[in-house]
Amino acid sequence: MPYKASTKRYQKLTYRRCGNSGLLLPPITLGLWHNFGGKKSMPNESKKMLFRAFDRGVTHFDLANNYGPPYGSAETNFGQLMKSDLSKYRDELIISTKAGYDMWPGPYGEWGSKKYLTASLDQSLKRMNLEYVDIFYSHRFDPLTPLEETADALTHSIRSGKALYVGISSYSSKQTIKMNKLLKERGVRCLIHQPSYSMINRWVEKDLLSTLKKLEIGCIAFSPLAQGMLSGKYLKTIPKISRISDNSSLDKKMITKNYLLKIKELTKIAKKRGQSLPQMALSWVLRHPTMTSALIGARTVKQLDECLDSQKNMNFSSKELRQINKYAREENINLWAKSSSN
Ligand SMILES: NC(=O)c1ccc[n+]([C@@H]2O[C@H](COP(=O)([O-])OP(=O)(O)OC[C@H]3O[C@@H](n4cnc5c(N)ncnc54)[C@H](OP(=O)(O)O)[C@@H]3O)[C@@H](O)[C@H]2O)c1
Repeated sequence: MPYKASTKRYQKLTYRRCGNSGLLLPPITLGLWHNFGGKKSMPNESKKMLFRAFDRGVTHFDLANNYGPPYGSAETNFGQLMKSDLSKYRDELIISTKAGYDMWPGPYGEWGSKKYLTASLDQSLKRMNLEYVDIFYSHRFDPLTPLEETADALTHSIRSGKALYVGISSYSSKQTIKMNKLLKERGVRCLIHQPSYSMINRWVEKDLLSTLKKLEIGCIAFSPLAQGMLSGKYLKTIPKISRISDNSSLDKKMITKNYLLKIKELTKIAKKRGQSLPQMALSWVLRHPTMTSALIGARTVKQLDECLDSQKNMNFSSKELRQINKYAREENINLWAKSSSN
């Protein structure tokens, strides 16, 4: 039976304006970095998550050329679903992809050249069965390619009708200001920045958020649950089904005594608010008016539902924020720090 979206899908979420653009995004976006790849097809639970997300008003799905494994397979699997079930909702969806990290061998398969970004976007569109993406990102800052060239490539993606908007990811405040200026000179809006941000990875608070506010650029925070560390799952042991056990982007060395202590205390605060820790972590990221969306990952429909239920309590008293601040401290988990330190 082909998928039919819930008729109540727009009744629950409050959409947020992306910078000073015309684009509204859902407060929670679903990313396809983990759990949506696979050589043959997308796992069944992941398909269910995409449908469930849309049924609950999540209009934005975030991808990148190399999400998998293997590279490209999250886009390919998403493309199959696009063809079979989602094409009739295309005008209700915001689909993003990115290029910047290694994708194919040789000098044109990564970083920020016009050659790589243009070819990668063409490949992404084919894999996803799309004529255009809504947002195309430069996935990381390239210290060796002139920023003008990356800006030219992003501009070209718009002029050629292959992207509606462009964004940048893991750029420092300084490089964001430069890129914004270069895009403006080319008549293009820098719509959105995608940085990592969570209760235990707060680098954006130093200057990036104020820069985005000043430049009226939207912000979508990735890994707001610190890849699952902002939950109780690692309190007793490393569960067999977890990102750490998958041996992927999360290392068990990150589960330190200090981290566990913070999680216990933050969980108590969340409980008093009537939330789970993942729910409080999402409401907390979204407390900034500049924050357009929290970009989560999920393994199951149950996790996704729990994350979406965070929207029931979005307010923090100043006392709660002070209490949270005692434990919401850096844990040295920002895998993307190198890109944004330029
Ligand atoms: N621009 C970039 O460079 C960049 C980098 C990374 C990610 N991203 C984007 O951001 C998206 C999200 O990243 P992420 O997956 O790291 O985000 P995340 O939301 O911080 O972590 C997702 C993980 O948290 C756990 N989780 C989710 N909901 C839970 C719940 N209710 N209770 C307990 N655990 C829960 C699951 O871990 P288990 O699997 O262990 O159950 C899930 O796989 C990606 O898909 C991608 O689109 C972008």
